[in-house]
Amino acid sequence: MRSSRFDPVADDYDAGRPSYPDEFFEAIEDVTGPLAGQLVLDGGAGTGIATRQLTARGARVAGYDIAERMLRRARARSPELSFVLADGNMLAFRDGCADLACFAQSWHWLDQDGACREVARVLRPGGHWAAWWNHAAADGEEWFTAYQGAKESACPLYRRSQANTDGSLAAITRSGLFEPGISIIVPWTRTVAAQDWITDERSKSYVNAVRPAERERLLTEVARIVGERFPGGQMTVPYCTQAWIARRR
Ligand SMILES: C[S@@+](CC[C@H](N)C(=O)[O-])C[C@H]1O[C@@H](n2cnc3c(N)ncnc32)[C@H](O)[C@@H]1O
Repeated sequence: MRSSRFDPVADDYDAGRPSYPDEFFEAIEDVTGPLAGQLVLDGGAGTGIATRQLTARGARVAGYDIAERMLRRARARSPELSFVLADGNMLAFRDGCADLACFAQSWHWLDQDGACREVARVLRPGGHWAAWWNHAAADGEEWFTAYQGAKESACPLYRRSQANTDGSLAAITRSGLFEPGISIIVPWTRTVAAQDWITDERSKSYVNAVRPAERERLLTEVARIVGERFPGGQMTVPYCTQAWIARRR
């Protein structure tokens, strides 16, 4: 089993990351039909954020991930749900068993062509693949530009262009196994305490990859930027959740 860059940040991830808006799942259901009763494989389930939300809509969900500590957090929070240690590039699920194979903030971590073949194998004909991401979308706001700049300077693995997920359908389209994919974008507003924003920053793999002293300098700088813009300590930040969805032929 390969290792995950997320295990070292599992606690901060569990404490700091936002969930996805209800309107987003409603938009997904407009494409997939009601999630209630669907068998969903939640790839790169991590601490189980999407697993819990899909389950709340009545789906039967199996979450899987390569990160043991992330899954430990998921199981601790939701012991009634099913989480297995598995690599999305080589799945131990039966052919044609799933109605939906989804990847919440995780598709970009997989070997796209191999993962795509596995998804196509485990989906029933007419089932759906979906990959989605949450993004802060405060482009043009002065504090956000400063915040992005601070991260780009300190984190060699970070570029603000990473928020662009337009290439997500490439392997799916290349495979010839899916109908043409579509994109859904749901804008929303995240209300979050500034200290939780910092916890969220700590949970990012590219922030954790920076040497500890530089990481603390960056987080102090981010806290300063955020504190100037939101002096009351409560942030309201425009967000969007973007999904890419394709139907198995
Ligand atoms: C950004 S986290 C997303 C977690 C969760 N889905 C969410 O919505 O917050 C990405 C997750 O993908 C997992 N991951 C990376 N490569 C993987 C692979 N080959 N197979 C399964 N999971 C993988 C990581 O371990 C990590 O937990």
